[in-house]
Amino acid sequence: MKNAVLRLLRENSPGYISGEEICKRMGVSRTAIWKHIQALRAEGYDIDSQTHSGYRLVAVPDRLYPEEIYCGLESVILGRNVYYFDSTASTNQAAREIAAGGGAEGTLVVAEEQTGGRGRMGRGWYAPRYLGIFCSLILRPELPPTEAPPVTMLAAVALARAIQEVCHIKAGIKWPNDILIGGKKLCGILTEMSAEMERLNYLVVGMGVNVNTADFPGELKEIATSLKIETGAFVSRRLLLQRLLYQFEQLYRVWLDKGFKPVLAEWKEYCVTLNCPVRVTSVRETLEGWAEDVDDTGALLLRLPDGTLKQLVAGEVSL
Ligand code: BTN
Repeated sequence: MKNAVLRLLRENSPGYISGEEICKRMGVSRTAIWKHIQALRAEGYDIDSQTHSGYRLVAVPDRLYPEEIYCGLESVILGRNVYYFDSTASTNQAAREIAAGGGAEGTLVVAEEQTGGRGRMGRGWYAPRYLGIFCSLILRPELPPTEAPPVTMLAAVALARAIQEVCHIKAGIKWPNDILIGGKKLCGILTEMSAEMERLNYLVVGMGVNVNTADFPGELKEIATSLKIETGAFVSRRLLLQRLLYQFEQLYRVWLDKGFKPVLAEWKEYCVTLNCPVRVTSVRETLEGWAEDVDDTGALLLRLPDGTLKQLVAGEVSL
């Protein structure tokens, strides 16, 4: 009901809609309408009211409420069903629970803040309130579990595309899926999978984007950046998330219809850690060599000093 009032206000924005008209369209009393207006104001919507003209939507809050995400969203499946948290430990954790309970393909879990955000290789993820995009997508592709890992690289391309579209800056991808600007980390992706030997149950693709963060605590200062720091301007999280969902969906269709090759080709265009000397640290070892290529499965092909070519499926690259 509250969202129906919001929809009417939006339809009439920037003009006024009378209280009487809202009552008529919704079949409820003026008191009920007033309560919904008050609830919307409490959520941060700026709504002007005039005795003779009625109500007018002046401004919407910078929040990732489901209604804000749906309004102007161009994707068809991704983000059409949103679970919103003002605060949660980890959207990946929440998404796993929702997926285990039957959450549909394309379901998006989004939080304004994470208190226990999870990163790759057992690290955390800094997720301060209202300053970033912290979200997880539930996907159920009909693929064997062994073919699922490239989804993380696909997510990196979707992020790079959305950033370019909204902020007009070209971000770089560091193998396998970190998004960097000027060598500092802007986005991270953590994909988790539930599968049996032959059957994939679901994927949870968690994405964290530093959007309007003005500064980072402690050691993050040296290694992290945000879109606001890089562009000098406030960036709409809502718009960026909407474009991310759209771009992700386009790439996801390509992957399922034509395979990973076309997505990988674009990933390579954004990659800033190929054809250069690198150090790769994995749980088992640290290797130095020449980052020669990435194969069709997304594995890094590292030319070692002795001339052999090593295929690496996971690790942390430093230049
Ligand atoms: C990395 O270490 O690079 C991956 C970071 C992934 C962070 C995102 S934020 C949303 C989602 N929920 C989590 O707990 N982690 C991912």
